[in-house]
Amino acid sequence: MIIAVDGPAASGKGTIARALAAHYHLPHLDTGLLYRAVGVATARAGLNPDDEAQAARCTEITPGLLDDPELRSESAGSLASRVSRHPAVRAALFAYQQDFAHQSGGAVLDGRDIGTVIAPEADAKLFITASAEVRAKRRHLEDSHADYAAILADIQARDARDAGRSAAPLRQAEDADLLDTSDLTIAAAVQRAIALVEARIRR
Ligand code: DC
Repeated sequence: MIIAVDGPAASGKGTIARALAAHYHLPHLDTGLLYRAVGVATARAGLNPDDEAQAARCTEITPGLLDDPELRSESAGSLASRVSRHPAVRAALFAYQQDFAHQSGGAVLDGRDIGTVIAPEADAKLFITASAEVRAKRRHLEDSHADYAAILADIQARDARDAGRSAAPLRQAEDADLLDTSDLTIAAAVQRAIALVEARIRR
């Protein structure tokens, strides 16, 4: 069984994807980490993340690379958003994600284009969302030293970049179930996600 979980930054999609993977005993890939790795590698090499050819030179995913704690930083997220606009970068990461999705037994993948591009044939697709204000509040709770207004502005800029790009923009697949987590606790959101997957696979 392949489960695709898409949605904007801080929507809860990562937490939900991990919980679904644990519930169904499936391997999980956070595909945002791939773009974060490319963004960080591009910056470390002194190359320009806004230049397609330069970013495309840094797309090799070597073992252990995705475990680098640096990939979790806000700056890595921002670099990821910049390199992920480039079709050559997306093309270079395509096979890795497809292979992960199609391993025997299935998998859970979360990202922006799993249900639309990477695994359109997924057995269940969830599109996780929450208002920009709620998502900014969540980020602020994680790091209370950061400025709430700056976090909100960053989230809005990232949404605009992810949804506005021409290559695989962030959008809900037609056959995806929408889950708005704005007013849900993590436990309630996970429960709802499992119920939506169950309903899909029973159809
Ligand atoms: O989910 P995240 O915050 O780790 O993602 C970081 C950036 O990577 C995000 O701004 C857009 C990009 N991304 C993408 O374009 N496609 C994916 N499948 C996953 C992430």
